[in-house]
Amino acid sequence: MIRSAPDALTARPTVARWWQKGLIYQIYPLSFMDSNGNGNGDLRGIINRLDYCRWLGVDALWLSPIYPSPMVDFGYDISDFTDIHPLFGSLSDFDALISEARRLNLKVLLDYVPNHSSNQHPWFLQSRSSRKNPYRDWYVWRDPAPGGGPPNNWLGAFGGSAWEWDKITAQYYLHSYLKEQPDLNWRNPDLQQAMLEVLRFWIDRGVSGFRVDSIAHLMKDTEFRDNPMNPDWNPASGPYFRYLPIHSRDHPDTMAVIRRMRQVIDEYKDCVIIGEAYLSLERTVAYYGAGVHLPFNFALITSPWTARDLHRIIRSYEALLGPDQWPNWVLGNHDRHRIATRVGRDQARVAAMLLLTLRGTPTLYYGDEIAMQDVPIPGELVKDPWEINVPSLGLGRDPERSPMQWDSTHHAGFSTATPWLPVASDFKRFNVAMETQEADSILNLYRRLIALRAENPALHRGPYGELLCDDHVVSYSRHSEGQRFLIVLNFTGEPRTFEDGGLHGRIILTTALDRTNEPITEKLRLGADEGVIIEIDHQTFKQP
Ligand code: GLC
Repeated sequence: MIRSAPDALTARPTVARWWQKGLIYQIYPLSFMDSNGNGNGDLRGIINRLDYCRWLGVDALWLSPIYPSPMVDFGYDISDFTDIHPLFGSLSDFDALISEARRLNLKVLLDYVPNHSSNQHPWFLQSRSSRKNPYRDWYVWRDPAPGGGPPNNWLGAFGGSAWEWDKITAQYYLHSYLKEQPDLNWRNPDLQQAMLEVLRFWIDRGVSGFRVDSIAHLMKDTEFRDNPMNPDWNPASGPYFRYLPIHSRDHPDTMAVIRRMRQVIDEYKDCVIIGEAYLSLERTVAYYGAGVHLPFNFALITSPWTARDLHRIIRSYEALLGPDQWPNWVLGNHDRHRIATRVGRDQARVAAMLLLTLRGTPTLYYGDEIAMQDVPIPGELVKDPWEINVPSLGLGRDPERSPMQWDSTHHAGFSTATPWLPVASDFKRFNVAMETQEADSILNLYRRLIALRAENPALHRGPYGELLCDDHVVSYSRHSEGQRFLIVLNFTGEPRTFEDGGLHGRIILTTALDRTNEPITEKLRLGADEGVIIEIDHQTFKQP
């Protein structure tokens, strides 16, 4: 066993804010619930399913973009930052969502996409119309390189150059993603003002915070230097990583811009900023310094799923966090393959227990609670531009965006029409209605874990005790005054035994939802893919 005691780092108790105590549930609106029978999810659909969210026990809903958009990147190409796409409904539907959510004590968070707009946004249409247009500088325009061609070697995340030639004014514009997503120029004070107003617009309408898209891309090198070659480039990771994006991402000036966002957020009470960036843990944690409350920690998505790797990331993340930096953990999202596909359905239960017992705010992706898996998409149905531009590497994101599986009826109860993406073929076995009825379903496991976490300060705000691992099993304790839980997780498909001379307690939850109240002394037998939460006896409770 490897032992480590991160207690010293985590001992300072914090007053729990709602976003520290709560669980964030990500809804991908196109795929959650269709209320008007056109095959696309919408706001009324979400409203109709708020009771489910409440029943599950989540605290906040984060909605992926719902704004007007040509939908080239499925809503992340925004043509109006302060309205609702008719596909999803209207502003009054949004207001209804906010008030219904409030009634159920649910917060709503929106996706804020500050790095780029759609190329159909009126600002961009103005900007490209003439070099003298007042909006010209709201985007990033450059002359060709001295010998011709794009100004530098920067690449777009979804394939090809990050520069697009625009013949109207004979310059290139920058797009860190698709050419239909021109980058906004955050060095321009008017653009900054306009984008900060967007935050106020939505908070005034009742949202409780934002997940900030592509937060590390906002500022770029002022000299537009070439990115260096990546000596470790693996072509399977896609063409984007051929160069190390050191001049086009995670630029030091980004922090000042984020601080401005935070100032706006702080004009209001209790709003949260969450940041999206796939960076090393060291660099992720740096974004706390800029005022991001929760820089998404994607380590559970990006690291190999073994006891030793997971132990290592928990330990290093904890060691990196300052006393006022609140941790967070994410198992899945609309950009990454589903957890039940990555690790299998049995191990997905262990993942659920891990997510809900680690220290820090958990984010859960819709459908993971019923063990939805990636849905293979036949070539002719592919929608994601990443898969279209960079095919066959497994980078496409349609598989993890399939419609929510509500029940065993046609189209899984998601819609009365053919859904925009295919429904999983096993939806009759895995769906909300079915799993609600099954006492030992993963859905009921999630529900129990969420409730246990909410009810016990040791789990939602207590520090870790000792964190141990061997090749197969990770264990850690969480404690608060007078209460101590030991969590033991088997990351393999083989039974294991966990031994600890001082262990005396009783099981309060297992991933199979059996063995409740079983007394445990010194030795714990773990089934394949089993996770166990033990409440340690008071008498043997050792203050760490
Ligand atoms: C973020 C989003 C992703 C989107 C991209 C461009 O990574 O999560 O879905 O395609 O930004 O906005």
